[in-house]
Amino acid sequence: MSELKHKKYSLFSSLVYHAPFLNTDECEMYVKCLEDVKKDQPRPQRPFLQTTDKLHLLNDTWKEFSDRVIGMINSVADDQSIIRDSFYNTNMWANISSGNEYFHQTHSHPNCFFSSIIYLRGNESSGTTFHDPRPQTQVFTPDYSIYNSINGSSFQIPYIEGYIAIFPSWLPHNVSGKADDNSTRITITCNSMMHCEVNKQTAYLKI
Ligand SMILES: [Fe+2]
Repeated sequence: MSELKHKKYSLFSSLVYHAPFLNTDECEMYVKCLEDVKKDQPRPQRPFLQTTDKLHLLNDTWKEFSDRVIGMINSVADDQSIIRDSFYNTNMWANISSGNEYFHQTHSHPNCFFSSIIYLRGNESSGTTFHDPRPQTQVFTPDYSIYNSINGSSFQIPYIEGYIAIFPSWLPHNVSGKADDNSTRITITCNSMMHCEVNKQTAYLKI
């Protein structure tokens, strides 16, 4: 069989950025700062705590954190050539899962453009798994000799302490966790929206 000469286009990709954001000392400092923040337990049957979703407005520490996230968001927006006036965080909160089963069911984040997760504490089972948003791809799913981000229906980015993952807010994702894992997972999540003026014919928008 002759060698296939081809150019391959990965069309309409769901871009997920994974980058260093905090050093070890900063992670510990923010974990310590969270001790002073009020937390709720949204599901009484699970060892899962959540802060206010207005963490970015709470005090200077978290406002500065939020501003640093926006710096990263702007780098991603530049990488994608997005014309805008500015980005801002609409929500920012901490998820703290202690004990086993820090499972988060598959979800996406409404009313924002980019979302981000900053990993303060965890282990290899604390990574986020992203899912193919195209339901058509599930009509027929052959076996593959190698699974990767091109042919798989899901892809888990590794947990790396201090890293930030930035992704389109509509991209479904979950955290699997492990039933026998007694470690603690602590993450900060941000939802980011933009101010912009869009000048497309018949699709003008100023927000
Ligand atoms: Fe999420």
